[in-house]
Amino acid sequence: MKKRIVIAIDGPSSAGKGTVAKIVAQKLGFSYLDTGAMYRCVALTLKNNEVDINDDTKISEILNNTKIRLSSDNNKSLKVELNGKDVSKEIRTPEISRLSSDIATKISVRSFLTKLQREFAQNSNVVAEGRDMGTQVFPDAYVKFFIDASVEVRTNRRYLQLQQAGIKTDIENLRKDIQNRDYQDKNREIAPLHPAINAVIIDTTNLEIDQVVDIILKRTKGVFD
Ligand code: DC
Repeated sequence: MKKRIVIAIDGPSSAGKGTVAKIVAQKLGFSYLDTGAMYRCVALTLKNNEVDINDDTKISEILNNTKIRLSSDNNKSLKVELNGKDVSKEIRTPEISRLSSDIATKISVRSFLTKLQREFAQNSNVVAEGRDMGTQVFPDAYVKFFIDASVEVRTNRRYLQLQQAGIKTDIENLRKDIQNRDYQDKNREIAPLHPAINAVIIDTTNLEIDQVVDIILKRTKGVFD
């Protein structure tokens, strides 16, 4: 089988990874893999089933019956389905953001999703975005990026995104949530967030989306050679 190409993009929440990864994927004709959406789906299904996140047996039982499907609809926005139901919007609330970071510390959840993510990349070339793409899931990625930005800028970006999605939130709480999630994602025992040794680090604090996309595309030149 032909080896698929993976472009790995990691970084903390709201650094702009998703927006940039989606554009890069479109420009290169790759699939876009939003792994955060997968963690969010697991968080949502555990919440809906009222599972205690310390109950590993129950978590495994639920995961055995969990089907996650990511697809791009006609206007290229990402559609996320959990057990056949469109949850694209439901997974974006602040509550699910917090819970997804909590359940992402669990080895059963990480193994389940890592397998799914690798399977996704068997079918097409992908731009994979998350926290551990370059370090754990795709250590042999063609090129790896780590996208960061100041907490201030990330809070403002997230606030705008939530407003546009019609989700009401308080900006101070949002800042605290982002800081807490940063701490938890960077300090967990399994697959903590950090740049891969060979990652290109991009600080997007003072950059526009187009500028970040340009940097990535320049570094990705030669991908089809
Ligand atoms: O990228 P996001 O904000 O949608 O991710 C939600 C949470 O999922 C994040 O706080 C940590 C977890 N996550 C992870 O642990 N590993 C990934 N590859 C992607 C997300």
